[in-house]
Amino acid sequence: MEKGILKISQISKIYTLKFPLIVFILILLSFFSLFIKAESYAVATRHHLATDIGMKVLEEGGNAIDAAVAVAFALAVVNPSAGNIGGGGFMLIHLAEKNETISIDYRERAPIKSFEKMFQDSSGNVIKGLSLNSILASGVPGTVAGMFYVSEKFGTIDIKSLINPSIHLAKKGFVLSDFQAKNLNKYKKKFAKNEEAKKIFTRTNGFSEGDNFIQINLAKTLERIAKNGKNEFYSGETAKKVANFFQDNGGILTLEDLNLYKLRIQKPVCGSYRSYEICSMAPPSSGGIALVQILNILENIDLSKLNHNSEEYLKILLSAMDYAYKDRAKYLGDPDYFRVPQDLLTSKKYAYEIYQEIQENKISPKVNINIIEGEETTHFSIYDKWGNAVSNTYTLNTAYGSGIIPTGTGILMNNEMDDFSSKPGHPNTYGLIGSEANKIEPKKTPLSSMSPAIVFRDERPYLITGSPGGSTIITSVLQEILNVLDFQMSLEESSEKSRIHFQHLPDILFHEQFDGSLIESLKKEKKLINRKLGEIHSILIRKDIVEAFSDKRRPDGKASAVYK
Ligand code: GLY
Repeated sequence: MEKGILKISQISKIYTLKFPLIVFILILLSFFSLFIKAESYAVATRHHLATDIGMKVLEEGGNAIDAAVAVAFALAVVNPSAGNIGGGGFMLIHLAEKNETISIDYRERAPIKSFEKMFQDSSGNVIKGLSLNSILASGVPGTVAGMFYVSEKFGTIDIKSLINPSIHLAKKGFVLSDFQAKNLNKYKKKFAKNEEAKKIFTRTNGFSEGDNFIQINLAKTLERIAKNGKNEFYSGETAKKVANFFQDNGGILTLEDLNLYKLRIQKPVCGSYRSYEICSMAPPSSGGIALVQILNILENIDLSKLNHNSEEYLKILLSAMDYAYKDRAKYLGDPDYFRVPQDLLTSKKYAYEIYQEIQENKISPKVNINIIEGEETTHFSIYDKWGNAVSNTYTLNTAYGSGIIPTGTGILMNNEMDDFSSKPGHPNTYGLIGSEANKIEPKKTPLSSMSPAIVFRDERPYLITGSPGGSTIITSVLQEILNVLDFQMSLEESSEKSRIHFQHLPDILFHEQFDGSLIESLKKEKKLINRKLGEIHSILIRKDIVEAFSDKRRPDGKASAVYK
């Protein structure tokens, strides 16, 4: 045989011998890589103690849902400005084994005695502050129902042991950070209006970094909930304390409201973006529809060919945001009360029509309305070693909700009624306007912007993400998705990029830090306001590497990831 030359028959002989071996090695390698991936897990939250609690649950064999329940109760203690049991939110769960993604709406509902004009005076003017800082501001809380439901349905660990770490933190206290101490002091006036809030959340000389912060009544309430279950909150001693307080103080939230609280299991809103699938919350959140709508519009352009955060890039983003928020105001509300044209709003055809309009530059100037005030809410992302994912955003609405604690409970109540449209065209605290779709009705759920999201690649979770920030939640989540998918950024790189927010009304472009020449140029077309946007807590699963990141726009957050 000539050197270096093999006959066809010889080649096939070698292949016959080695092919099975090669296949075997490949199977082994892919099994091994799956194995590595399957051992990875991560948690990203707004507070390091909550992240540690979530990670411990995962380390000890709990799944993502167990960890989510433990984290949600922990944040109610260590992040009282937004973490809660007196509020509500949305949880997106991806169940790896079934390859199924579901969403839970455990948001607040309007009390039975609420009515359309409850925040207006006899002349039809909206009474300032009534939907935010009064006994009428609270919807019926859903967080406890939400956590018990997901724990019973998808969890593997007894919920008592998931609540225990939070009881401990409330009873023994935790150390306040500089940010938290200052934040509590900032809201001193809000707490001063309620006896129990004043006692717990204020100090004569203010709080300082390093103070141990104890919440005895909250610890007792959590203990009762752990012992007696969900009914403790909705019909037990806690429910009675809450209802009596509301009755004694001119409120409309009753024991019947608490008894009748029902969460909703929903199909998430999903759409495709390039080669990815994005899922987020369906109405009563505007998040899923708006995200999919904006991404559908942007899909008509190859964004990766534009310079990130260039003028051209930002202008196309703000145009797409403009259309989505205009539709939000007109068409979105609780789907049990208003027929939301979801299919139209999320269709590629509709997005293409908008894209063409944007190209023709048909956006008309708008009037300015109230400037957006402060924001709160908190998001956490969790991924477990089985490939399950949880993306959860929940809130009291603005920081510390209404600032009202029913006596003896330690529970800060939400002020979510402000997320309804108090009057058509009247802006809420975020400057968002609404219409018929989001008017107040008994038992109805106020429209939200919370957008817990999961991006899938090849049917597996790729990016788990979400943000606080009221109306800016949607645009923050959007820019995280674009940074990662179109610009291949790591989570850390993405978090370092400035973001913009535009919501149709007011006609103001909110922006983070950009260079002077870009600002000068944008100023020619829009009124600009420089403002820090919400911090993002994300997990990115690229092949067998799991990256978790809590962005540094606010301190105290922590992301932990383990990949073995
Ligand atoms: N409370 C803010 C939101 O739900 O969008």
